[in-house]
Amino acid sequence: MGGRILVTGACGQIGTELIQVLKGVVGEARIVSLDIRDVGGSSWLDTVFIRGDVRDRELLFRVVREFRVEVIYHLAALLSATGERRPEEAWTINMDSLWHVLMIAKEVDHVRQVFWPSSIAVFGPTTPKERVPQVTVMEPNTIYGITKLAGERLCEYFCRRWQVDVRGLRYPGLISYRSLPGGGTTDYAVEIFFAALREGRYTCYLSADRCLPMMYIDDAIRGTLELMDAPRSALRYTVYNFAAISFSPSELESAIRAHLPDFEVEYKPDYRDAIAAQWPCSIDDGAAREDWGWAHRYDLPALVKVMLEGVRQRIREEAVGLSSPS
Ligand code: NAD
Ligand code: SER
Repeated sequence: MGGRILVTGACGQIGTELIQVLKGVVGEARIVSLDIRDVGGSSWLDTVFIRGDVRDRELLFRVVREFRVEVIYHLAALLSATGERRPEEAWTINMDSLWHVLMIAKEVDHVRQVFWPSSIAVFGPTTPKERVPQVTVMEPNTIYGITKLAGERLCEYFCRRWQVDVRGLRYPGLISYRSLPGGGTTDYAVEIFFAALREGRYTCYLSADRCLPMMYIDDAIRGTLELMDAPRSALRYTVYNFAAISFSPSELESAIRAHLPDFEVEYKPDYRDAIAAQWPCSIDDGAAREDWGWAHRYDLPALVKVMLEGVRQRIREEAVGLSSPS
């Protein structure tokens, strides 16, 4: 058997979907999943599952050595909205764990690659709002964004100083129906589909015109694997701008209403609107497109179609007890 792949944050929105795809590529026997919680019915079923805390350095070293891990997808984190409520925990979970993972990659010979996600939250109020360049002003003012900025610099440091092959993407808001988001500011763009189909109405916590960069999950997972497969020599950056589409809640509302004419949205912005107000509307991901051939496939109409179909199916399965919310 080849070396194993460790996915931390395995039960989260991205981990669940990534493991499902990885299972098809390398087989479940080569995947080790780790999370602090276990969610029934998740994709990590059939993989080796470790319940543990990514802040536990000894645990991480032990798991990597015992399972002869070659590649680590380090996804465990607290996201932006939860982070603002629990800033100290956001700092320790996001930063201590990244330090441990990078040290492991530096010290354990059989670890050859690390993937670590940054975010559009790495940008702040002094960053341009439109078509943010790869290299730009980054002065985030949420604790989550600050951990992403520090994390990017840490990855860059380990890469330059010790040639650790760590690669990252500044993910936009990710939209999925098989796995649900966990405590982000962009979660509205998933909730709205469930509300549209269940209640025919939605109360949105962002302003109607709060435009943000977004991406359908299948594009995000495919792009992540393409980045990991790219020859190191082709990569000019450790962490890349990564983009697909941008829209505001009112634009998403109209796109959903094209399918559900009676759908209604009320806008009641809360603290998450203040977080989103610091982030850009659109991202220039030209470097990713040039260096490793990134191209998104889902535009807004395609995303709305696939989400409505997927959420409708999920609601049907939940009604007959075939699927449980995760
Ligand atoms: P999520 O909240 O859905 O999942 C995170 C997982 O990490 C959860 O299952 C949680 O139980 C686990 N976790 C939290 N603390 C832990 C700890 N101490 N030890 C072990 N596990 C722990 O998040 P996600 O959306 O899957 O995000 C994964 C990564 O991608 C994060 O680094 C996030 O910042 C980044 N990201 C996500 C998005 C997005 O829209 N989903 C956008 C940008 C960046
Ligand atoms: N989707 C994430 C969040 O809202 C962006 O990093 O926190």
